Amino acid sequence: MNKKLTASNGAPISEDNNSITVGERGPLTFDNWQLMEKLAHFNRERIPERIVHARGYGAYGTFTLTKDLSQYTRAKFLVGKGKTTKVFARFSTVAGGQDSSDYVRDVRGFALKFYTEEGNWDMVGNNTPVFFIRDPQKFPDFVHSQKKHPQTNLPNPAAHYEFWASNPQSMHQITILMSDRGIPFSLRHINGYSSHTLSLWNDKGERYWVKWHFKTNQGIKTLTDQEAAKQPVNGMQADLVQAIDEGNFPNWTVKLQIMPEKDAETYGINPFDLTKVWPHTDYPLIEIGTLALNKNVENYFAETEQAAFSPANLVPGTGVSPDRVLQARLFAYGDAHRYRVGANHGFLPVNAPQCPVHHYQRDGLMAGGCPVHHGGSNPQTKEVNFYPNDKTHEGAPAPDASVKEPPLQISDATIDRFDSSNDDNYTQAGNLYRMMKDDQKEQLTNNIAGGLSQATKSVQKRMIAHFQKADKAYGNQVEAKLK
Ligand code: HEM
Repeated sequence: MNKKLTASNGAPISEDNNSITVGERGPLTFDNWQLMEKLAHFNRERIPERIVHARGYGAYGTFTLTKDLSQYTRAKFLVGKGKTTKVFARFSTVAGGQDSSDYVRDVRGFALKFYTEEGNWDMVGNNTPVFFIRDPQKFPDFVHSQKKHPQTNLPNPAAHYEFWASNPQSMHQITILMSDRGIPFSLRHINGYSSHTLSLWNDKGERYWVKWHFKTNQGIKTLTDQEAAKQPVNGMQADLVQAIDEGNFPNWTVKLQIMPEKDAETYGINPFDLTKVWPHTDYPLIEIGTLALNKNVENYFAETEQAAFSPANLVPGTGVSPDRVLQARLFAYGDAHRYRVGANHGFLPVNAPQCPVHHYQRDGLMAGGCPVHHGGSNPQTKEVNFYPNDKTHEGAPAPDASVKEPPLQISDATIDRFDSSNDDNYTQAGNLYRMMKDDQKEQLTNNIAGGLSQATKSVQKRMIAHFQKADKAYGNQVEAKLK
């Protein structure tokens, strides 16, 4: 027997094909509540898309620790060789809307949510080890310059280069984006990076600065612009879903670069500058685990679209760093989630920690109706809705001083706006160019010339000068191709 079709109040309904009208040819009547409910709910099926990284694909997987890290951290998911932690991953393009193509030349988001026993730890990274800017003040302008033209709604490469001409701190990232790495063959064939310097700290109160690397075991595989143009718009999503469905689980080897806290004061490269890498000769990669994706989502909207990743999702033993772009992100993501998904986004299954959650936050839109979420008749909180209270000795939630992060000493500093726009924008971009084979240099400079040819003469001139500062031959090659 079929299930009974109901209205949203649960009452069975007699008909769902014909609305109520005045006679066979007449207009609707006001008592069409069934129709109104249906149309009204339909109008509310969408939530705002992410302002960046709108187009993405999610899957679940497992992180397996292959090296005990208790020397560096007290985070339980990083202690005990062989330990496994469930993960949700979301890959994305950055600039395009939800309806853009998978095959654009763009950075790919590489966001991971680790459901650890001490709370969720999110690694909200990209497939590149650096970023376009080192000051968060520039982020909205940068993103506007990469989005479609506000009047024509068409791609706008002239604006990309107009932003970069005034912001040579993007040189390193541009050199990666315009290289053969700029369009992946698939999401299984990309590396992931924290890009930022994050931190780990141990029970002794020692802190280490850490960069995370997820190296694809499928190998790096990329497409040229010409090859990408022939791909179906949804190809990368189809590839990921299919691989997982077939049991061909994509996997990555997880590695860390680890710097003792004090090294940061003397290291020649500012370790908190997001436009710079740490050469592996200075801080070698240490293999610590594997990540394998093994389960597709059951519902794209419920899981992938409502997933809320945040660099502020930290667990004891992990931390951030003075990188100012990272600091701004600690605010930006929670704010985006409260707007995009709602104040109670944390209760949705994809976002909910898989450990008990006890706090004195309560109520708000869509709090789920469960007394726990409302701070109501919850035996664990002893029905107290404020802190401190007189019930903590009876088991009401109370802070645990043992999870306090070690203090961070910032040397005698003056509070001001410091201009970092000229903090060596060229050396690492030039190093990367010099490491490339001739055919890679060809692709790089062809790709740049393609977009840059659409910019004004003034922008072209300034960009050539920037490329020449990175490496004379780099700039000359771009200049020759523009002519
Ligand atoms: C000041 C700098 C930045 C700001 C203000 C910023 C802001 C945002 C915002 C508002 C979102 C949408 C979040 C949502 O609606 O759920 C987002 C998504 C994302 N951002 Fe950033 N971002 C910044 C820099 C970066 C950097 C440096 C990285 C990588 C190292 C990064 C990686 C990502 C990823 C992977 C997503 C998609 C997360 C997902 O899959 O849901 N962002 N960013």
